[in-house]
Amino acid sequence: MTSAAENTRVETLRWRADKLEIIDQRILPMRFEYLAYANAEEVAEGIRSMVVRGAPAIGCAAAYGVALQALSYQYADTPSFKRAMAHGFEVLAASRPTAVNLFWALQRMQKFVQSNAYLSQQSLASALLSLAHEISAEDVRINRAMGDFGASLLADGARVLTHCNAGALATAGHGTALGVFRSAVGAGKKISVFADETRPFLQGARLTAWEMVQENIPVTLITDNMAGHLMKCGEIDAVIVGTDRVAANGDVANKIGTYMVAVLARRHNIPFYVACPLSTIDMQLPDGDAIPIEERSHDEVTGFGGLRWAPAGVMVRNPAFDVTPAELVSALITEKGLVRQPDAAKLTSLMAQP
Ligand code: MRU
Repeated sequence: MTSAAENTRVETLRWRADKLEIIDQRILPMRFEYLAYANAEEVAEGIRSMVVRGAPAIGCAAAYGVALQALSYQYADTPSFKRAMAHGFEVLAASRPTAVNLFWALQRMQKFVQSNAYLSQQSLASALLSLAHEISAEDVRINRAMGDFGASLLADGARVLTHCNAGALATAGHGTALGVFRSAVGAGKKISVFADETRPFLQGARLTAWEMVQENIPVTLITDNMAGHLMKCGEIDAVIVGTDRVAANGDVANKIGTYMVAVLARRHNIPFYVACPLSTIDMQLPDGDAIPIEERSHDEVTGFGGLRWAPAGVMVRNPAFDVTPAELVSALITEKGLVRQPDAAKLTSLMAQP
């Protein structure tokens, strides 16, 4: 079996010795280590604690979680196997609420289980593993297709701002927003990246900066509150971000702070693009107000890595995502092409395409 991330340098998820191995993104870039996962509960904990994060990567990890659960219980009696599988789906679905790719992947695995009920437990477990491999390989293919469409939007020499990490680390490989940068560079364009630090979890400073440095793509780190100044000074030509869930009207949920960047981009007439695989579009939700926004631990805001800087007793909010209204989105970059000025009608016809 070739790796899903073949030809990309970062292998976020890999299958080794009957286990799922995941790069521990909590400790990057200080240390580079894989952690091994053997069942759904462990994978759910890896997602919850952000060992693996980023919408498509969470979906791929969840698919492996289901396969691991089936493999772990394949020799159990039928009622125990069924109970273990139901429990596996439940813990994985409860791991994080915002990225719809998690639920998309679980639904795909669940449908497969239902339509292959005639298989023996052992055959089902091995078929579920093949499906998890396929979901990861497909993710890389989709990212490459989005990368090519997105690269066409960037002029040679473009200076592009991104927020959070929508890179190989957030996917099975290549990345969505960072995939566009990789594809543009692959097409011979000289581009340079501004990475927002992305408080409080620092996905930009730690992960995006690390990925770009690894590949010698010029990257400049800024704190989140510097973006407006640089836009006003004419130093940013475009913004490209990823997304965790897009509602049926084109509203975009992404890492907290994205909305602020989109408003600033509009103020300065800078195009704001969202790299968005179809698995991230949730046609069940009419608009962004219906997207569940995860609230994370206060510790992420009051300090970092064991160092606390805020006083005891202070009240804290920590919404991990925000919603950018569709009207601020210049285009969605999907694997089927660009959707300029997305709205309900355009998304309905996009999703109806074969
Ligand atoms: O909390 P995270 O790190 O999982 O949030 C990730 C993001 O917001 C990404 O921008 C999004 O998932 C797109 S990843 C291709």
